[in-house]
Amino acid sequence: MTIRRFPLARIGGCASGLAARRATVAKAALAYAMTGLAVLTLSACGQQTPQREPLTGGDPARGQALIVHAGCGSCHTIEGVEGANSLVGPPLTGLRQRTYIGGVAANSATNLERWLMHPQAFSPRTAMPDLGLTEDQARDIAAYLYLH
Ligand code: HEC
Repeated sequence: MTIRRFPLARIGGCASGLAARRATVAKAALAYAMTGLAVLTLSACGQQTPQREPLTGGDPARGQALIVHAGCGSCHTIEGVEGANSLVGPPLTGLRQRTYIGGVAANSATNLERWLMHPQAFSPRTAMPDLGLTEDQARDIAAYLYLH
């Protein structure tokens, strides 16, 4: 029986390059240390992750209040929101580092806001309910989530 192994490198493309970069760093450690190039080499990994739009421009403090009001915590664990420690849906900690939202949409501010307003538009069978958020509300919530 054969199982198709998912190559690590396909996610973000970071893992594969790292070993090569480590070797380069080791070889030329002295030269790099003098020029500061080592820093560039190491930070290059972050540049390979998909581009994300800047933070949403929403108000994270309002977003936090909306998260409490909407009851997101009855399904999600959300850092900094009291009582939001459910595991019905995925924990939302570190959302900004994710590549996908809901497993279907590229992680961008626009997609996150759209997901929050109408998750079924992306994923018709998802258990995440449409809570009737306005665009402004979704932007504020997205601002909070991207910061935690
Ligand atoms: C009834 C439970 C429920 C409620 C209430 C709920 N969600 Fe969800 N949510 C889910 C489930 C289940 C998923 C996983 C969906 C999927 O992958 O199809 C999800 C997915 C998400 C995702 C994508 C997470 C990821 O890892 O890709 C975000 C962001 C999100 N929810 C935010 C919220 C916010 C903010 C609220 C409140 C406004 C909220 N949810 C309310 C159940 C819920």
